[in-house]
Amino acid sequence: MYLLKPFLVALSAITACEAFPALQTRDITTEALSSFDFWVQYAAASYCEPNYVGKAGSKLTCWAKNCPSVEESETSIMMDFSNTTNTDTSGYLAIDVTHKAIVLAFRGSYSVRNWLADATFIYTNPNLCSGCEAELGFWSSWINVRANITTALAETVTQYPDYSLVVVGHSLGAAVATLAAADLREQGYVATLYAFASPRVANPTLAKYITNQNKGANFRFTHTTDPVPNLPLQLMGYAHVSPEYHITAPNNATVNASAVVVYQNGDDPKGNTGALGIPDLLTIDAHHWYFERTDGCLGPGMPFKRSN
Ligand SMILES: *[C@@H]1O[C@H](CO)[C@@H](O)[C@H](O)[C@H]1NC(C)=O
Ligand SMILES: *[C@@H]1O[C@H](CO)[C@@H](O)[C@H](O)[C@H]1NC(C)=O
Ligand SMILES: *[C@@H]1O[C@H](CO)[C@@H](O)[C@H](O)[C@H]1NC(C)=O
Ligand SMILES: *[C@@H]1O[C@H](CO)[C@@H](O)[C@H](O)[C@H]1NC(C)=O
Repeated sequence: MYLLKPFLVALSAITACEAFPALQTRDITTEALSSFDFWVQYAAASYCEPNYVGKAGSKLTCWAKNCPSVEESETSIMMDFSNTTNTDTSGYLAIDVTHKAIVLAFRGSYSVRNWLADATFIYTNPNLCSGCEAELGFWSSWINVRANITTALAETVTQYPDYSLVVVGHSLGAAVATLAAADLREQGYVATLYAFASPRVANPTLAKYITNQNKGANFRFTHTTDPVPNLPLQLMGYAHVSPEYHITAPNNATVNASAVVVYQNGDDPKGNTGALGIPDLLTIDAHHWYFERTDGCLGPGMPFKRSN
């Protein structure tokens, strides 16, 4: 836990002296809220082992009972991936016949705490655009599985040409999902991104590029004072993809439409970026709650408390 402290102290210092740009906020519609309530369940499903070590043809299930609408849908795993070399990128590619969707979901690495301890926050050039830099660890996670996923995806799209592509993830999985969506769009796909609790993944040039890709919408969610989306720091040169859907409801509370505030500028100090006035390590609880207990299949307290 103590590892978070220096980051949070640094954060409060930065946000305190930043100029506040003009705000653009609006409430979301109830239709948007139901779609968020639905797609987050695909991110939740990526934490449930039977889905990322499953067999092609299996249905998606969540033993933590946090993906009921996914379980009610007609789903089938096309490809699963886990324990991929050193980056441990896990997840699945599945079809949802009920909603005519192809879903690519990333679990990311197990322990956010280990990630904070190990992360170098070094940039690498993802060759997506001029001047664009991506965080090396997240980009490497995607590169490890990219060839296999793009092969499986191409086959799936051939089989289901009228389905839409959705890329989802929570926490470190959201970071990988963001870069995967950006790259797949670059390869010609239209991909809608649902990124819950994502760390920053890009320098300002790449963040702006992904924001403006125009080949599928970006839905990037943050929750109250969740510290994870505030890392790596803006001070270290990192920026967020926009818009930000900032959930203001307390932990464990059902989220209603007026509790989701949209910021068109993804690093808006009124959103999650500015929410950490006084460092409070208890606020990591907010990381687990995105419309529901998103990482419920990891068990109580994890991923933060793993491997002490
Ligand atoms: C991946 O690694 C975990 C932890 O070492 C292990 O429990 C799991 O069975 C492995 N999965 C596969 C598909 O090898
Ligand atoms: C990609 O697929 C090949 C062939 O099935 C498999 O041997 C390899 O382990 C896979 N690579 C990754 C990173 O999953
Ligand atoms: C919406 O959620 C907020 C935050 O949880 C709560 O304060 C508010 O009372 C709720 N509004 C309605 C109409 O339920
Ligand atoms: C939310 O739920 C979790 C898991 O049941 C529990 O550990 C935590 O204390 C709850 N938090 C609040 C604020 O109720």
